[in-house]
Amino acid sequence: MCSVVGYIGNQVSRAYILDGLARLEYRGYDSAGFSCFDTEKKQLLCVKAVGGVAQLTAHINEQPINGFSGIGHTRWSTHGTATVENAHPHTDCLQKISLVHNGIIENYLKLKHALLEEGHVFSSQTDSEVIAHLLEHELKRADLVQSTCALVAQLEGAYAVACLLEQYPDTLLLIRHKSPLCIGISSHGMFAGSDPLAFAGHVQEIVYMPEASFAIIKKNGLELYNFAGQRLDVIKQSYTAAWEADGKRGHEHYMLKEIYEQKRVIQTVVQNFRTRFAQTWNLALSPEQIKALASIQFIAAGTSWHAAYIAQFFIESIAQMPVRVHLASEFRSLPFFSELNTVFIAISQSGETADTLESIRFLPKSVHTIALTNTPLSSLVRETNGAILMDAGTEIAVASTKAFTAQIASLYLLAHYIAHQKQIITNQALDQAEIDLLLVSEILESLIERYKQEIISTWAPRYASYKQAIFLGRHISYPFAREAALKLKEITYIFTDSYPAGELKHGSIALIDSSTPVFIFSVLDPDVYKKLLSNAQEVKARSGHLVVFAFEGQEELIALADCVFIIPVVKPLLGVLAMTGLMQFLVYHIARELKRPIDKPRNLAKSVTVE
Ligand code: F6R
Repeated sequence: MCSVVGYIGNQVSRAYILDGLARLEYRGYDSAGFSCFDTEKKQLLCVKAVGGVAQLTAHINEQPINGFSGIGHTRWSTHGTATVENAHPHTDCLQKISLVHNGIIENYLKLKHALLEEGHVFSSQTDSEVIAHLLEHELKRADLVQSTCALVAQLEGAYAVACLLEQYPDTLLLIRHKSPLCIGISSHGMFAGSDPLAFAGHVQEIVYMPEASFAIIKKNGLELYNFAGQRLDVIKQSYTAAWEADGKRGHEHYMLKEIYEQKRVIQTVVQNFRTRFAQTWNLALSPEQIKALASIQFIAAGTSWHAAYIAQFFIESIAQMPVRVHLASEFRSLPFFSELNTVFIAISQSGETADTLESIRFLPKSVHTIALTNTPLSSLVRETNGAILMDAGTEIAVASTKAFTAQIASLYLLAHYIAHQKQIITNQALDQAEIDLLLVSEILESLIERYKQEIISTWAPRYASYKQAIFLGRHISYPFAREAALKLKEITYIFTDSYPAGELKHGSIALIDSSTPVFIFSVLDPDVYKKLLSNAQEVKARSGHLVVFAFEGQEELIALADCVFIIPVVKPLLGVLAMTGLMQFLVYHIARELKRPIDKPRNLAKSVTVE
């Protein structure tokens, strides 16, 4: 979370910094700040604001500052509330160093106490401010390279830092440890960004800063060092990606636009699978290695974790091998048992989720890893052996929709691909999997159209008035119920919980009353359906209000419902995918009814780069 951007060159920096921040605002929007070196005043200047880039721009318009070098930041608060004092850039005691930081300094309290004892004066509650004071301390004794080495030797945690110094007015200092940071090279200057999107369209080349490195950047060149102060080779790659300020294409929110893109997204996933070009589909496994595969383990967080959980049903029933699904934030705290012929697949829309990345880094090098991501230039792709790129297009709304759908579609195909390579299924079954997905893509979209008016005029206003909701599923619809509960809570702030329907009677049924709607997602497996039906009856018997997503022909369940959405019959394992758009559309309209900031819900960020 948090975004770091920087510029040093022949042109004034402000517009580049503000534009870069606006592009990366998905990483946090609690506060924003800009600092530059004013060559006339020979002084570092700074403007900060609570809120996002719009608020910062308004402040800058009131007190315009500019310079040929600049740094900027949008913040997702970790240490200290969203106030101007806690907004970045942070400075040293004499305001001669100005820096922005993405990450967490885990030992900041210890460092802060030592600096306070030395007489340093702090102005914020953040962990980041210690970096400025420590650098101030080190610069009294040594040059920039040595001081930076001494600085990083004391820092524990993750950090991407961009820093301006009055003492070195022609320099932009960048430091990277665990958090992402890259450098863009243009004919008029050098850019920095937590994500290359920050400078896409302005540069011709890119340098991904290696892990544990720092860069001393001048307007026409850069030097790269490791943390021991040794020079590193600068590896430049061509980077000609353009910035498409995609816009909402007539939709009120990005989330709605992305919900409507899902039919096309599934089609793209199928198309990419058909061609299986290495750019989008590279497992980095030989046919023999796939044949020998004995198990798959997924690592993911949030919505991506729900996708992994759903994929467990695909792989176990289609490719007939055991699957384990790990929550990225827990994985490294548990014992690791090495297993033969297992592959770890990290699922992450952004490819930058710190918990997921750290889990991959935690694995022994001998373990084969694959990224399933929507972000080809992400750290995850660079740090795994193989990659499946979903090609869903940039997802801007913080709540994931089309990326979830792309994950499900890709993993369904992966299960068939492995099964085919292992000769468990025929060529025809492999082709059929693609056809089934294309059919579901049509159903997903047509269901939204079918229920659109009903949702907008009846159901969304009704469910917006509830304070809490319960979500139930069984078998493959249980992880889907979790995803629906997450989606509703994160964009509406209505409290939700989700359970496997069969677990309700073991305690949670005590929560059922007429003031708590219960959302039930059906399944197509007849045995599981029968059991789910009994669970729905248990809810009804306690005056529960039932919102049911049922399949055509499931008359008993339909009859129990207070609100029902009827889904055409599809391949049993794809039932949840068919429901996805409708569920998201309903949730979206509940949030709209409540006038929530749907694309940027409070306290959240799109790319979660802290552990
Ligand atoms: C919820 C949501 C998050 C992300 C999670 C992991 O709508 O988007 O739960 O799924 O933060 O993000 P990625 O997939 O980028 O690793």
